[in-house]
Amino acid sequence: MVTLKERAYAKLNLTLDILGKRPDGYHELESVMQTVSLYDLLEMDLHTGKDWVLCCDREDIPCDSRNLAWKAAELYCRTAGKDPEGITIRVEKHIPSGAGMGGGSADAAAVLRMLNRYYGEPFSREELADLGAKVGSDVPFCVLGGTVMCRGRGEILRPLASMPKCVILGCKPEFSLSTPVLFRKMDQEQNLAHPDNRAMERAIAAGDLQAIAREINNVFDPVVSREYPQINHIKSLCSRFGALAAQMTGSGSVVFAIMPDETAARQAAQELKQTYPQVFIGEPV
Ligand code: C5P
Repeated sequence: MVTLKERAYAKLNLTLDILGKRPDGYHELESVMQTVSLYDLLEMDLHTGKDWVLCCDREDIPCDSRNLAWKAAELYCRTAGKDPEGITIRVEKHIPSGAGMGGGSADAAAVLRMLNRYYGEPFSREELADLGAKVGSDVPFCVLGGTVMCRGRGEILRPLASMPKCVILGCKPEFSLSTPVLFRKMDQEQNLAHPDNRAMERAIAAGDLQAIAREINNVFDPVVSREYPQINHIKSLCSRFGALAAQMTGSGSVVFAIMPDETAARQAAQELKQTYPQVFIGEPV
């Protein structure tokens, strides 16, 4: 038996724009995505000689072929023509689910990277990302990681300069949102507040954190905020501690903030934890 290990890093959407609806029912997106230091830990046993098993330390996560990590392993083995003779996947969850942080996608991407490494890298990173697109729209980004301009369904990737070092605070309100339901809701919206992705690209290229903070903008945020006052509550609390920007990530419900320093982040985290148990402090990776 062989055991492989990998970290599955969460993502944030620094910007997220909907450009239109596609004939296949998906939405054409443009989003600057960023890997953050919060991660799930994945372990994978190969050649167990038994049926496939997936175990996870959180009850709300499916432990069978519905799990994206399982789907990714199946797809990899089928596409690469490999028989691992029994797989056990263990997932230690730290990324909140229903959060817009790509938790399931990060796990799937970690499985793809592990298997590809084990089998001697038959697929390039780009090919692996393309494979990931068949598992979920956020998987290609999670395969690559870093700071990336993502387009299409999320599978057209253009790496950008790295985001400058900073302190990121994340907080999950109690509610979770269904991504497909939210996308459908967006179809009914009239005047979307679109981010300026060109300005964000310039800010990232210049390594200007203040300018990046100014351009942080997610088209979903005002729509969700309207219905869930917790979003604005978290944002205003972060602002009181000097946040440069605070915004919802993906289709929610986590709100992240760029904090001025570690001390301010800790103080804000302490305050937030009184109402919202799921709070984390991290940095771009
Ligand atoms: O690809 P994934 O399974 O992660 O997408 C979940 C759902 O989000 C899709 O079924 C679709 O309703 C919506 N979606 C979309 N446009 C995208 C990505 C996701 O409409 N670009």
